[in-house]
This record gives sequence, C-alpha cells and structure tokens, in this order.
Amino acid sequence: MSHELTDLLGLAGRTALVTGAGSGIARATAHRLADAGCDVAVVDLDVAAAERTVAEMTAKGRKAVAVQADVTNPAAPAAMVRRAVEALGPISVAVNVAGGTAGVNKSFLDLTLDEWHRPMALNLDSTFLSVQAEAIAMVRAGLPGTIVNVGSTSGVTGAPNLSPYGAANAGVIHFTKTAALELAPYRIRVNCLIPGTHWTTGTRAHMNNPEAPTSVREFFAKSAAATPLGDLGEPEQTAGVALFLASNLSSYVTGTSVVSDGGILHTTARPAFGGGTVPEAIRDHVDADRSPRAASPTKKERP
Ligand SMILES: NC(=O)c1ccc[n+]([C@@H]2O[C@H](COP(=O)([O-])OP(=O)(O)OC[C@H]3O[C@@H](n4cnc5c(N)ncnc54)[C@H](O)[C@@H]3O)[C@@H](O)[C@H]2O)c1
Repeated sequence: MSHELTDLLGLAGRTALVTGAGSGIARATAHRLADAGCDVAVVDLDVAAAERTVAEMTAKGRKAVAVQADVTNPAAPAAMVRRAVEALGPISVAVNVAGGTAGVNKSFLDLTLDEWHRPMALNLDSTFLSVQAEAIAMVRAGLPGTIVNVGSTSGVTGAPNLSPYGAANAGVIHFTKTAALELAPYRIRVNCLIPGTHWTTGTRAHMNNPEAPTSVREFFAKSAAATPLGDLGEPEQTAGVALFLASNLSSYVTGTSVVSDGGILHTTARPAFGGGTVPEAIRDHVDADRSPRAASPTKKERP
C-alpha cells in the first residue's frame, strides 16, 4: 500500500479487534486492516482458525493475537477486549462480524422460543455487548475510535425461514444508529456493513452439504443468478467496505449502513418496463449477452 493511501486511511499503528476473524468476511477484513498498518486481535470461537489468521498477519510483519471467545456468552465480549488490550495495547478499531443463522432456518410457525433466541444471541446480543465493551475501553483509554458492526440484507428485506436472523440483523442496523449518537461526543464512530450473500466457509458448507434440503442449495444458485453484478460476493470484495468504514476516509460518517450485495437489494420481481434489447448507443460494442467486446477486465478482475 502506498504511503499516500496509508496516510489517508489513518490506520497505521492502531490496534484493531475483529470478531469471527478465523474465516470469511471477518478474516478478509483483518487482512485489509493489517495491510493498512493495524495490529490485529483475531477473535473466534474456533481457536485453530484464529491462529491461522494470526500466522497470516505476522507473516505480513504485523503483531496479532488469537483470542478465543464465544460471543454468545454474555461475559465474552468484555473478556475479549481485555485480552486484546493486554496483548496489543488499547484498541481504537473494532469490527464485529461474528454471527450467522445459528442453524435455525424454518418457518416462524414452527419455531420454539429457544430457536427464536439463538440467532438473537449470536447476532444482536453479541453486537450490543461487543460495542459496549469496545466503547468503554476506547473512552477509558482516551482514544477516538471506529466501530463497524456487520448486519445482513436479511435484516433489510423480509427473510422467509430466517425470521429471527432477519429480526436480529434489523436490530443490529438500528442499534448502530443509537450507539453512534451516544458515542459521538467521545469521537467514536459506529457504522454498519450489510453484506448480501457471499461465498464463505459457512455458505459453502450449506451448499456442499448433501443432507441440506435441495431448497437450501437452490437458494445459493438462484441468488447468484438474480444478482445484478452476476455472482455472490467474495469476502475480499466486502472487506474493503469494512476498511473504508473503519478508516479516516469515512471520518464524517456515523450511524449509517453500507450495503455490499452486488445490487440484489435493488432488484424487483416486476419485469422491466419494455426494452429487453441492448441499447442502440452501445450495440456495436457489446455481445448479445451484454459483455463488452473490447479488451476489458474479467469478472475476477472487475474493480
Ligand atoms: N456469508 C454470507 O452470505 C453473509 C451474508 C450476510 C451477512 N453475513 C454475516 O456476515 C458475518 C460473517 O459471515 P461469514 O459467512 O463471513 O462467516 P463464516 O461462516 O465464514 O465465518 C464465521 C466465523 O465466525 C466464527 N464464529 C461462529 N460463531 C461464533 C461465536 N459464537 N463466537 C465467536 N466466533 C464465532 C466461526 O468460527 C467462523 O470463523 C455473519 O455475521 C453473517 O451473519 C454473511
């Protein structure tokens, strides 16, 4: 990364804490933060996965520590912050990514209260407790800071068969707004990153599980096909948004949510109003499938 960009980001020499960073979007975010000059506390339930990420960080010349924590344990967020600070010094960046469906995917008509609570504990309770512990540590250390929570597009649209996951993530988006207002006087910004469906360890496990109902496997194929940018996301594509929200590039942004979903939230079941052909202005330059004819970035290279 060039010195100019590092200066603009303003992250060099700071300590960041990332939950869930043994894998997926969180691990990719830990890499972006390390590339920008942060030392990183890698928090995960799976300590072996956390240690793998730590090894990747130290190979880049950054300091890093693996912190084992189950963020559904109410005592864990305060303990993970304490451990991170002991190992790496005061934190001023936190990205709360750990979350998921907690294995609950069925109609709310069949849900027990315990099943309703599990995604709430994993996504909403954990975010509340993590932001609380992180903010207290930042204020006590006298540091301005940035906190990024991770929600889900399921918290924006209806989420059939994922009602508690959707409601918990709607809560994460809303809690982010309140936390931002309460923490603004202490110069701590709080924002939310909202990913659409991504290819990660978690989603690949569902996709490749022969025991998963066909409908679950179809969900990924159909979601990819319905995504305007043409595929599900890769963690690295969305980690850059977390980096932006954590960095000085977003120094006037707080309480807001940024969606990284390939455009799917803007799609509609309604057909387009007429059209269907390639616009005349570009007809000579694209093929029938609308791919540009001139040398152009491949999908993998697309910025
Ligand atoms: N992948 C997607 O399609 C997608 C879409 C929208 C939102 N999200 C959200 O993004 C976040 C990350 O998803 P992902 O697919 O990158 O994750 P992932 O499944 O690849 O990795 C999750 C990581 O979190 C850890 N973890 C799980 N439970 C934990 C707990 N209780 N305490 C601490 N660590 C725990 C796991 O060990 C793992 O390393 C989640 O909050 C998820 O809800 C993901």
